[in-house]
Amino acid sequence: MTAVYLSAKLYIFAIFSAFAEQVTELAMKISLAVRFCSAFLVLTIDENGSRFSTIQGVNGDIFRNQDTNSWYKDGVKLIQDNLGVKPNTNTAKSAILFLGDGMGFSTITAGRILDGQMKGETGEENVLSWEVFPWSALAKTYLVDLQGTDSASCATAFLNGIKTNSGMLGVDSTVRRKYCASLTDDNKVVSILTLAERAGMSTGIVTTTRATHATPASSYAHAADRNWESDADIKAKALDDGSKCKDIALQLIEYPHGNGIEVVFAGGRRELMHKNQTDPEYPDKTGERLDGRDLIQEWVDKHPNSQYVWNQTGFDQIDVKKVDHVIGLFESSNMKYEIERADDKAGEPSIAEMTEKAIKILQKNPKGYFLGRIDHAHHDGSATKALHDTVAMNKAVAKALEIVNKDETLVTVTADHSHVFTIGGYPKRGNPVLGIQKNLGDELAVDLQNRTYTTLGYGDGPGGLNGSRPDLRNVKTDAKDYLQQATVHLGWESHGSEDVGVFGDGPGAYLFHGVVEQQYVFHVMDHALCLSKSKQKSCDKHVTRGGKPKSSGAYSLSLPSMMYVLLMAALLI
Ligand SMILES: *[C@@H]1O[C@H](CO)[C@@H](O)[C@H](O)[C@H]1NC(C)=O
Ligand SMILES: *[C@@H]1O[C@H](CO)[C@@H](O)[C@H](O)[C@H]1NC(C)=O
Ligand SMILES: *[C@@H]1O[C@H](CO)[C@@H](O)[C@H](O)[C@H]1NC(C)=O
Ligand SMILES: *[C@@H]1O[C@H](CO)[C@@H](O)[C@H](O)[C@H]1NC(C)=O
Ligand SMILES: *[C@@H]1O[C@H](CO)[C@@H](O)[C@H](O)[C@H]1NC(C)=O
Repeated sequence: MTAVYLSAKLYIFAIFSAFAEQVTELAMKISLAVRFCSAFLVLTIDENGSRFSTIQGVNGDIFRNQDTNSWYKDGVKLIQDNLGVKPNTNTAKSAILFLGDGMGFSTITAGRILDGQMKGETGEENVLSWEVFPWSALAKTYLVDLQGTDSASCATAFLNGIKTNSGMLGVDSTVRRKYCASLTDDNKVVSILTLAERAGMSTGIVTTTRATHATPASSYAHAADRNWESDADIKAKALDDGSKCKDIALQLIEYPHGNGIEVVFAGGRRELMHKNQTDPEYPDKTGERLDGRDLIQEWVDKHPNSQYVWNQTGFDQIDVKKVDHVIGLFESSNMKYEIERADDKAGEPSIAEMTEKAIKILQKNPKGYFLGRIDHAHHDGSATKALHDTVAMNKAVAKALEIVNKDETLVTVTADHSHVFTIGGYPKRGNPVLGIQKNLGDELAVDLQNRTYTTLGYGDGPGGLNGSRPDLRNVKTDAKDYLQQATVHLGWESHGSEDVGVFGDGPGAYLFHGVVEQQYVFHVMDHALCLSKSKQKSCDKHVTRGGKPKSSGAYSLSLPSMMYVLLMAALLI
């Protein structure tokens, strides 16, 4: 009996113990849940970023001043902003491509700092106009035949959607460079600008290079060699009978698609003028053409309501309401670097001015254009010129963003390639980016031989050292013509081969993410505008170009004149 009683007691105790254990466990779980909930509740209450402060009660005093730190608050705010970013999947009515020729990441960073320092700030925290775009990608720039790239072949990629060989434009890699006979209708490729023209849109090219330079030319021409800018060039440079190939200037004037390119603002008059014509700005210079054709006059005669200007006064007098086609050629060859522009005799508009006027003309039924100038300056080994051009590009993008309708315009900012341009060392915050390095203690930074050095430098180029590296204590390194030191001494600084950035905003821009091939830029613009057949399975034509109206009323038929593609190339080689 006792045994039975004891065992029953034990049994009850065991049950009770187990129950108690469960109760305890449950209590712990409830307590934990409450703790989590309270933490969670705290997290959801405060929208400002000070949400973490009350977790102290649960987890201890781990966050102290972190949540009031302005850098921390910036991060919290950006999360909030980014949570609100939604992809714009509408079909774009218009597109603008800004191309910073040679504007690699080091150029963007140094340009951002210079722009900030020109405004009296320390510079590093400055934000360029395209750096607030919500979408971006890295683009790989190699070619079919080169690990690196030249401007013609990479412009062919981002404007035509294919990779090709170095030195050729608007053609695929089956063409043999400099052999006219290898160029046929089968290996020509169609650009985004041509697709836009054929869809009835307006197009424009704005550049500080010659209009016939490789980068803008890749939007309208096909050439077995990028240097075939005039008939004289073909005669001098083709390796076979070049007489059956059209030079690039002639292709610009005889461009056969749509109603022709509406706006060309560029340099390079000499390629369109013949030998007997004297340049209007430089009495000692003439045109280059051997065929005796005055292509500028031919262009004006061909287009109704058209106008030619060659200086600032002519540019300022353009009446955007009256003119439908305009060609502005502001230099015999390339336009001036931004930092030298004020010295021009006849006057030249800035990239921002050209951009604004081009958009206003194109907005009457706009479709596209190009712009820029960074690359030549880097080729000279001069960071000052290149970075001032980056600052000018920043203003042009900002101006465009002010005047376009961002809900219907895809704006893309990218580079064709980088340069062997570096930002090195440990300069203190706010150290002049074009200056000699000073470190935290405000002393000059020196090398192992007690010689000073600049923050900016080149891997190769005209600043190359022939013998030992000179000290820079008494050198004005921010002078316009100063050449930063370079490791390898070359006559001409080279392109860089690392990836370039692609920054996008507006309809279709959400497709820019990840690491992509450079030709993808064409495909995003094509999809966003829904132009080529290859895309039309997955996009709807814009209502102003024959698409079905959306019931949401997202598109307005009253605005057909607003469509355009704006290709802006900050071009340079
Ligand atoms: C949130 O920030 C605003 C602006 O700084 C401030 O006025 C407001 O009091 C803050 N709210 C909380 C809950 O801290
Ligand atoms: C250019 O000048 C030469 C020599 O005066 C002349 O023979 C030729 O016809 C001129 N060409 C044109 C297109 O005016
Ligand atoms: C600008 O071009 C116009 C038209 O050719 C010309 O009349 C004017 O003299 C030029 N101005 C300058 C400063 O060269
Ligand atoms: C480095 O050069 C500076 C300027 O010529 C000189 O004042 C300084 O003493 C040198 N320092 C050393 C460690 O040689
Ligand atoms: C390099 O330096 C040597 C010796 O001082 C000189 O003879 C030569 O001309 C220099 N070369 C260049 C390209 O500057």
